Amino acid sequence: MSPSRSSAPGAAFLLGEHAVVYDEPALLFAVDRRATATVEASSEDDLPDSPYVREAIDRAREHADEDTPLAVEVSSSIPVGAGLGSSAAVSVATLHAAARELGETMGSERVADEAHEVERAVQGAASPADTYTSAVGGFTLVGNGKRRVDAPPTEFVVGYDGGSASTGEMVEGVARLVEDNPVAADIVGSIGDLSRRGVERAETGDFDSLGDLMDMNHGLLDALGVSSSSLSRMVWAARDAGGNAKLTGAGGAGCVVAYPAKDGVREAVASEAEETFAVSPAEGVRPE
Ligand code: PMV
Repeated sequence: MSPSRSSAPGAAFLLGEHAVVYDEPALLFAVDRRATATVEASSEDDLPDSPYVREAIDRAREHADEDTPLAVEVSSSIPVGAGLGSSAAVSVATLHAAARELGETMGSERVADEAHEVERAVQGAASPADTYTSAVGGFTLVGNGKRRVDAPPTEFVVGYDGGSASTGEMVEGVARLVEDNPVAADIVGSIGDLSRRGVERAETGDFDSLGDLMDMNHGLLDALGVSSSSLSRMVWAARDAGGNAKLTGAGGAGCVVAYPAKDGVREAVASEAEETFAVSPAEGVRPE
């Protein structure tokens, strides 16, 4: 028997991170950098030292009602802890591959739900945004419910400062601010308003005016204390070149997403980034 291998994409927020933790909507897309899980029945368990992988394997076993020992290997080209949903992609790919190896198929919606439970078990509060987007692919709207968004394909630029931050700590920082200051709660609501408008612009392919909302969203995230000098430098480099940009994910350090991926915007972001790459909406979890 050959092993079962599945891959799943990372995810970037075009609008709405942090606010989505408060059930406001967020607009995301799956980025074509992937995590790959290879799972093979074995004489004894041989699992990587990752709580996400271990929790995902437990859930796949429960789903398949089968506790065969498994050897698991995971590889990923998604920067870790940098706002591109690396742990979600690992959880999604592992669940999908393990279920297959145990003789069960797990559809992408079910994988999304199980992977969200994995993230909650490992990191506490987590929205379903990254896990859902990684499982189903394309553009998504996640908030009080979740769905795919039918938008034309396009290209964005990701700039990575080489750093990482703890999602849990960033989410806690925002929670403290929201508790202490009603203006912060209003900002969270305003971010939700940007996503509500943004989804219409994505659906009509009006990415230029979606970009204006991304700029506003970055300003509001900065006000919530989750930007950093290196993230803002990449954002301003994109803006000075005539583009639009914002941080993506938890913030603190990591990645920004910019638009458009042409007219010097990519080069401008690269001048302030450790690594820069163009990304377009990717397929969700799939067998390899
Ligand atoms: O940086 P990431 O990929 O872990 O994304 C975090 C996004 C938050 O909205 C801040 C938290 C969440 O669970 O959605």
